Amino acid sequence: MAILLDMTREHVPVLAGELIELADPAAGENVVDCTFGAGGHARLVAERIGPGGTLVCIDRDPAAEERFAELAAEVACETRFLRMDYADALELLGEEGFEADLVYMDLGISSMQVDTRERGFSYSYDAPLDMRMDPTQELDARTIVNEYDQRQLSRLFRRYGEDPGANAIAREICLRRRRSPIETTSELVDAIEAATPAYVRRKFGGGHPAKRVFQAIRIAVNDELGSLDRALPAAWNVLRQDGRLAAISFHSLEDRRVKRFLAEKARGCICPPDLPVCACGHEPEAELLTRRAVAPSPGEIADNPRSKSGRLRVARRIDGGDR
Ligand SMILES: C[S@@+](CC[C@H](N)C(=O)[O-])C[C@H]1O[C@@H](n2cnc3c(N)ncnc32)[C@H](O)[C@@H]1O
Repeated sequence: MAILLDMTREHVPVLAGELIELADPAAGENVVDCTFGAGGHARLVAERIGPGGTLVCIDRDPAAEERFAELAAEVACETRFLRMDYADALELLGEEGFEADLVYMDLGISSMQVDTRERGFSYSYDAPLDMRMDPTQELDARTIVNEYDQRQLSRLFRRYGEDPGANAIAREICLRRRRSPIETTSELVDAIEAATPAYVRRKFGGGHPAKRVFQAIRIAVNDELGSLDRALPAAWNVLRQDGRLAAISFHSLEDRRVKRFLAEKARGCICPPDLPVCACGHEPEAELLTRRAVAPSPGEIADNPRSKSGRLRVARRIDGGDR
């Protein structure tokens, strides 16, 4: 099915003021936006870096590339777009010897993606089971829902959706697809609802019972955690001395990875804890600019409820190393 772009609901950039303040892009700097989306953050960064700066934008969604063309025509800085997985793009930039003053990522999906019903990201619309950010990739939600065995589905819903009803939902999906394949988001929602009794919904905080399962399938379709694991070291590798790495995450699976990565970089001594004096001489490579993750203000959440789970972490590279 052709992808119809629904631009009626604009993506509102999350934690934008906080990102600009803490990551502090300055005139003439080289910046990488790993998750361009609708370019909300990119536009603010472009204003800051001005005519002498370079902004490399990455996104694997062709809809984002169309948005990039608009931005590139309007801003004064030099621009470049890479339609790739951000981990691959950062590795490519590293091979090219690109040196960044700031790399930032705003993880997850954009409002444009959620609200373009044909893409199947939302449990609120009836659509084919798709959920691919990159529509040219093979794996889609339909394949996962119809071809993973019950154990794989149950593990997926538990791990990536933290869904307490994972087993029952996986069982129901497998029962139904024996009669005929599950083709649409509505059929999947029906199966989830049938497997989730009202008392379970109440016990685990209400909300739509399909929310966690859709999140889990989306993460798997797009290998979101695998990309993030590869992207963090690749991003660090392109940062020059004093360069900043910033990440906005939307669930604990992402935030935990960012937190651990930055904490590891900020660590000094790595000797075993029982050693009385330091023998390793290991120096920290990062200064944490956010001790704790920064959350959106109540005002931002009121204006944009989708920002609610956003968490920002920023660190500065201080080792110098060979850069
Ligand atoms: C939350 S949106 C970014 C919104 C953007 N900051 C803005 O202000 O408009 C996340 C974007 O990242 C893209 N994305 C997510 N994971 C990606 C990956 N591994 N590689 C490339 N792009 C990715 C999605 O396609 C989506 O457009």
